[in-house]
Amino acid sequence: MKIRFTVNGRKVDREVTADSRLLDLLREDLHLTGTKEGCGEGECGACTVLIDGRAVNSCLVLAPQVDGKELLTIEGLTQLNQSVSPSSTEQGDKCGLHPIQRAFMEKGAVQCGFCTPGFIMSTYALLLKHPNPTDEQILTALEGNLCRCTGYLKILEAVRYAAKLMRGNK
Ligand code: FES
Ligand code: FES
Repeated sequence: MKIRFTVNGRKVDREVTADSRLLDLLREDLHLTGTKEGCGEGECGACTVLIDGRAVNSCLVLAPQVDGKELLTIEGLTQLNQSVSPSSTEQGDKCGLHPIQRAFMEKGAVQCGFCTPGFIMSTYALLLKHPNPTDEQILTALEGNLCRCTGYLKILEAVRYAAKLMRGNK
């Protein structure tokens, strides 16, 4: 079947089978390999992308379900890079990173990095809804994302810092 959708601001037309997964469409057809496959069954969150502003596990979404939708992946988030306060370190700006990516780097919330795109997309969906989230809101938003390396504390710190950076930007 034919589907048409937008990914990272780009309009895409594709012929897909009824049982094809969004994750495979993104990674294998569109070469958006920043989205990772961990478990393939909705348990780890490594495959998180946004569909119409909502974080979803792309391994559980069928490609035909995104017909007419607007998708954002980690690659698109980088394109949304926003300049931030000059008083904070400029490493992320020089690299063209989004403030959430910078916050994860600066707070040491990235180790092997496999889970990171998923955490960052879940964080972005959270901050769209709650620019100044409570710790409880952060933990709820990230409860579907697993990390085997960091112990989560640094991720929590990174999300708090990202919220601050993004608020300072407005
Ligand atoms: S790969 Fe989709 S939730 Fe783990
Ligand atoms: S940084 Fe390695 S799984 Fe999270």
